[in-house]
Amino acid sequence: MKKLIAGNWKMNGSLAANEALIKGLLAGATTPWNCNVALCVPSVYLSQVVALTQGSPIAVGAQDVSQHESGAFTGEQSAVMLRDLGVRYAIVGHSERRQYHGETDVVVAHKAQRALASGITPIVCVGETLAEREAGVTEEVVKRQLAAVIHVNGHCISEIVVAYEPVWAIGTGKTASPEQAQAVHAVLRAQLHAASAQSARVPLLYGGSMNAANAAQLLAQPDIDGGLVGGASLKAADFLSIIAAAS
Ligand code: 13P
Repeated sequence: MKKLIAGNWKMNGSLAANEALIKGLLAGATTPWNCNVALCVPSVYLSQVVALTQGSPIAVGAQDVSQHESGAFTGEQSAVMLRDLGVRYAIVGHSERRQYHGETDVVVAHKAQRALASGITPIVCVGETLAEREAGVTEEVVKRQLAAVIHVNGHCISEIVVAYEPVWAIGTGKTASPEQAQAVHAVLRAQLHAASAQSARVPLLYGGSMNAANAAQLLAQPDIDGGLVGGASLKAADFLSIIAAAS
């Protein structure tokens, strides 16, 4: 399976900076990429980034999607609206959404369901906090988070992407070691396989301080199928190095 490298810009960018970054990425694509590449950008810039990446190997993703279909939900974007713009992916259940916006496992599961119903691939994030890792409950936490999504989505689960993002590794410069990441990915793979044989092929991304220097080692692990990249996706040269490591 081709690896998937997805950038998560989080709440960064401007019209000018986005254009410069995407031009830099496309200029750096001198040989065809042998991996799938996506950029998950702030919703206000989705149209701009869809236009800038038209006809290129870069797919566009949102960073969230509403669990509701339409109606009185001020400030939210529906999966149908994302599809309307030509968006391919939506991150759901990022730890920053769980932490700062109170998103529960059940809400995340319904967001994934809404995305799938509109032909958007949800990138479902799971991951433990430092306290949870230290308490020895990492496996229990990620399995609980993924179980909610499996429970609500049934056989459609084979169409999702999962990102393992240990919260303690996000934006901290502390990456999970390849062995630590692989151990959790193996647990997630087994859980998906138990749900259905087809789901064993769900791409499992690692996220958390992935950068140009550590990407190759992480991506060499048998159950790491790509990366969800925050900070390093904001610099063309760094993101291109990660793409090269995955190609
Ligand atoms: P960093 O790569 O900045 O640690 O962020 C990871 C992340 O949260 C991607 O969704």
